[in-house]
Amino acid sequence: MTDQHDSSELSAQFAASTEELVALYDSWSPSYDDDVSSWGYEVPETVAAMLGATVLQTTGPSAEILDAGCGTGRTGAALRATGFATVIGIDFSTDSLALAGHRNAYAALVHGDLNKPLPFDDDQFAGVASAGVFTYLQEPEPVIRELVRVTQPGGVVIFSQRTDLWDPRDTEASVGRVEADGLASAEFSDPQPYLPGHPEYGKAIKVIYTRMQVR
Ligand SMILES: C[S@@+](CC[C@H](N)C(=O)[O-])C[C@H]1O[C@@H](n2cnc3c(N)ncnc32)[C@H](O)[C@@H]1O
Repeated sequence: MTDQHDSSELSAQFAASTEELVALYDSWSPSYDDDVSSWGYEVPETVAAMLGATVLQTTGPSAEILDAGCGTGRTGAALRATGFATVIGIDFSTDSLALAGHRNAYAALVHGDLNKPLPFDDDQFAGVASAGVFTYLQEPEPVIRELVRVTQPGGVVIFSQRTDLWDPRDTEASVGRVEADGLASAEFSDPQPYLPGHPEYGKAIKVIYTRMQVR
């Protein structure tokens, strides 16, 4: 881990502006994989396994999957290892996208901001995975609605959110409003490990997985 990305900076990220986040993830990208691995981060593999257990069973390996906030591509690699053949990644960190491209895990990598309308068609994807990204989304509901829009009926959207941001970001109510509009049904995991080896986050902060089945 570099001095630039120490624990105090990590804890301040959730309140950063778009410009600050892009700069942070561009500069962190070369050591990101080693840093989060050293803290025991397994959210990408967990999200991929959850998607595999549902979407892969019903639609098969040709299903098109979106990795929303793909970063350096760990989730794409996990999705490919799970059996999905066509994964598309989107992120606003150019340097992270370049590293994701080196994995040869993605059919396409798109530079884009999840807080804006997504450059994808209605019902384009059989599944959406978003690992470790909702930390940075100040208003999750419009993003959730976009992820649901681009997912076909019967498809699944899975995203993680930190336990300390669950209530402040109004996560459950945001999902509930999407459910109430008849767009999806949702279930939430119990809190799971997030960064178990991190000196600050290890025991204090866990992660909840939301699984939404699109109608
Ligand atoms: C903790 S990293 C997770 C990366 C990857 N999903 C993983 O689990 O390794 C958060 C990622 O979200 C991206 N991100 C955050 N806010 C975003 C936004 N509004 N639009 C696009 N990407 C965003 C960052 O650039 C970064 O790559």
